Amino acid sequence: MTADCSVGIIGAGGVAARHAEVLSGFGDVRIAGVADTDVDRAGALARRCGATPYPHHEELLAREELDAVYICVPPFAHGPAELAAVDAALPFFVEKPLGVDTSAAEDIAARVRERGLLTAVGHQWRYLEAVERARELLAGREVRMVLGHWLDKVPPVGWWARADRSGGQVVEQAAHVVDLARLLAGEVESVHALESETRAAGIPDADVAAATVATLRFRGGAVGTLAATCLLAWKHRAGVEVYAEGLALEVSEAGLRVHTAAEPELFEDDGTAKERVDRAFVDAVLGRGGDVRTDYAEALRTHRVTCAIAESALTGAAVRPHAG
Ligand SMILES: NC(=O)c1ccc[n+]([C@@H]2O[C@H](COP(=O)([O-])OP(=O)(O)OC[C@H]3O[C@@H](n4cnc5c(N)ncnc54)[C@H](O)[C@@H]3O)[C@@H](O)[C@H]2O)c1
Repeated sequence: MTADCSVGIIGAGGVAARHAEVLSGFGDVRIAGVADTDVDRAGALARRCGATPYPHHEELLAREELDAVYICVPPFAHGPAELAAVDAALPFFVEKPLGVDTSAAEDIAARVRERGLLTAVGHQWRYLEAVERARELLAGREVRMVLGHWLDKVPPVGWWARADRSGGQVVEQAAHVVDLARLLAGEVESVHALESETRAAGIPDADVAAATVATLRFRGGAVGTLAATCLLAWKHRAGVEVYAEGLALEVSEAGLRVHTAAEPELFEDDGTAKERVDRAFVDAVLGRGGDVRTDYAEALRTHRVTCAIAESALTGAAVRPHAG
């Protein structure tokens, strides 16, 4: 029996392995091929999911009859795979961030729009129960302040500590937090950022700042801050606090803490967001549902904000996230 949805994977690293594991658990999905410029990695992941390895995405797309493709390459490698998927009218799921800056992403977004192509982006925090509950609690209230933070270690991938490879910590990691801030408080009008002179510790040639702080002004009138550091040896905290009149919410992957004048309430997350993001995409590919919560155009709006913060940190000037 053939599966309903034949999927290809481009980039066979850590996050691709996670998607492959989730997809392998879906009875209606078959992973047909895996492409990676590192053929050993393509081979290893392909073996684990019974797929064919390819050294390049073009061969994968030419040889396999795919219904969708997952693009899991590092930030600096975005562009060619997405454009090939657009040319082949192939729905794609792409990992965040969309690139190290906005140039290729703006072009891809325009082509996706022209084609009316189905896309999804790996902002799986939008599938956290904590986020769903926070949105319910905030309905009808005005968010006045947002405090975002990503306080962590340098991830164990060789490209991360170079800004021209990763885009820097805000673009690469804090994107999840900025995406939530937009979801809960609306669009960001302007940002102003500073970064430490110290660079990511212990990594030769590192030029990613060890710490970045930013202030944000939202169009709806809220103000906010973002703090990011990679100085630690552990993941300390990542999340968003949102403040409205008489209500303070703390949202993270672990759950939601609700503060009012009464006792705080804690709602622990059930840990299924990473499955739900893949299920929603596959269902959309199969025409069975419309629960993709971050498509390419929506992720680009988040990416413009994180890139504006990176630009402001370099220039010292306030920046308005902009198209083009
Ligand atoms: N949504 C999430 O929670 C989440 C979690 C982890 C990583 N990510 C994102 O996923 C992306 C990849 O991260 P990772 O940890 O898997 O990195 P990784 O370095 O482990 O894997 C990337 C793989 O892509 C391959 N590659 C590079 N250029 C390629 C190209 N042109 N064509 C095909 N393959 C190519 C590399 O050889 C490598 O095997 C990053 O942008 C990261 O931010 C997202």
